[in-house]
Amino acid sequence: MYIFLNDRMVKEADACVSVYDHGFLYGDGIYETMRSYEGVVFMLDRHIDRLWLSASLIKLRLPGRGFLRDAIYETIEANGLSDAYVRITVSRGRGPFGLDPGLCREPTIVVIARKFKEYPAAYYQKGTEVILARTRRNLVEAIDPRIKSLNFLNNILAKTEAVDRGAYEAIMMNKDGYIAEGTVSNIFFVRDSRLCTPSSEVGILEGITREVVLTVAKANGTEVVEGMFRPEDIFPAQEVFLTNTTGEVMPVSRFEHVSYGVGATTRHLHGLYRAEVSLYLEEAKRAGS
Ligand code: PDD
Repeated sequence: MYIFLNDRMVKEADACVSVYDHGFLYGDGIYETMRSYEGVVFMLDRHIDRLWLSASLIKLRLPGRGFLRDAIYETIEANGLSDAYVRITVSRGRGPFGLDPGLCREPTIVVIARKFKEYPAAYYQKGTEVILARTRRNLVEAIDPRIKSLNFLNNILAKTEAVDRGAYEAIMMNKDGYIAEGTVSNIFFVRDSRLCTPSSEVGILEGITREVVLTVAKANGTEVVEGMFRPEDIFPAQEVFLTNTTGEVMPVSRFEHVSYGVGATTRHLHGLYRAEVSLYLEEAKRAGS
């Protein structure tokens, strides 16, 4: 495998980062996870926009968008990949001990791409089990969840709860008890024919999959509510699902003590999402030819 490191492709064994990298020492950095279909990175510009937003929120200097785009595609091509999981990580870089970002002269940039591994079919056919975590989502005023940060302990603590309870994902509330999101996913539920999801005000990472699902749902005439919800609002729902770049639209079969079937709306929205991916691929291929 080849890895993009700072300014060039290197063999995986040579892709080494300093022990003085502030990403390692302090979790000071950001990342994006993307998915390519037939060699095309879905919503690449939106991912680069979000990387820029994260960078601006932590005052990290990034190279230009063209550079980032080229690094991502070079990594996919160097590894001969088509359907891939792609991650770009940008840390503050190497520097002496100390929190001042000014101690690091250059960010460290890493792009890793590997063959996309499909999730088990049962996750889509039967759904996944999720729990309500005791761990609360980071305060917007502390570490804003809009920052897709390398400092992932908040999510890891919640994930540990899910693992301990044999669940796939843990849903976190914000400090006021409003449902926020999963450790690596956004949550939706269908109640009385309305599609509901926590609004950005709650303090969430505004998922790109979430954005696509909201757009296709609205275009399809579904009533959509982005709001402030408590667990009690979700329990009586008819359907619950999770969204993220790698899993797309993933049904939930159980949230705490309540079971759900894989509903028609979830399946329909996943179909519409897939159609959106196909359209994007066609357009990207037309633009590239
Ligand atoms: N995670 N919320 C959190 C906390 C996330 O980490 C993610 C994505 C999402 C969904 O965002 P998107 O639809 O843009 O993938 C929501 C990625 C998959 C990850 O951590 O690898």
